Amino acid sequence: MKLVLAKDYRDMSRKAANVISAQVILKETSVLGLATGSTPIGAYQQLIEWHKKGDVSFASASTVNLDEYCSLPSSHEQSYLSFMNANFFDHIDIRRENAHLPNGMARHYEAECEAYDALISRLGGIDLQLLGIGPNGHIGFNEPDEHFMMKTHRVRLSDATRQANARFFGNDPNNVPEFALTMGMLHIMQAKKILLVANGQQKLAVLDRALNGPVTPRLPASLLQLHPDLTVVFSEK
Ligand code: GLP
Repeated sequence: MKLVLAKDYRDMSRKAANVISAQVILKETSVLGLATGSTPIGAYQQLIEWHKKGDVSFASASTVNLDEYCSLPSSHEQSYLSFMNANFFDHIDIRRENAHLPNGMARHYEAECEAYDALISRLGGIDLQLLGIGPNGHIGFNEPDEHFMMKTHRVRLSDATRQANARFFGNDPNNVPEFALTMGMLHIMQAKKILLVANGQQKLAVLDRALNGPVTPRLPASLLQLHPDLTVVFSEK
């Protein structure tokens, strides 16, 4: 594991964007695994800036996002599709047909999950997976559990996660969707490279447990310790 300490959020975002842009410059047809949450927004902004300067293009890249809420129309401003459009896709040259998220509105969610895993396999797997970390150690929406969930699956969001994400839903955890679809640990762990970004004192304890504590499904991010090419960029501020 490579741990990079950044001096502040801007520096963390720039360092993360550097890794992502290097990936796409070195391999134009890269498959990028992308994440939502507040943490990666600065990295997306930096990539947009570099794209507008002509330094990086996503025209030949594909993206697969980690997760999507269930029962939230994709047009809803808090859907992860809306998030990705607003914070990234609308501002770069990615071809829309190459930007993928699981469909949280799928009636037959099991078929949707299977199709999502098949899609990632068909793309040849993920070259670089960007991750944030939830306050309870979740990655994507892989919540603490008795065992690691390997495949894309539907998950009931934990109270802690609904509490943490309530800020996007009028500060009421009950407004946060109860379920989500999330990529499982298999495609995440099979990614050739993983880039985990985290910032703020409030993430320090969970990050420390994830990177230095026992590997346990009670803290899904702890499995990342077993990944051969993990870069963590952390900023305390
Ligand atoms: C969300 C997402 C995760 C993200 C995490 C942390 O619920 N599903 O992919 O990493 O929570 O979010 P933040 O970066 O806002 O702390």
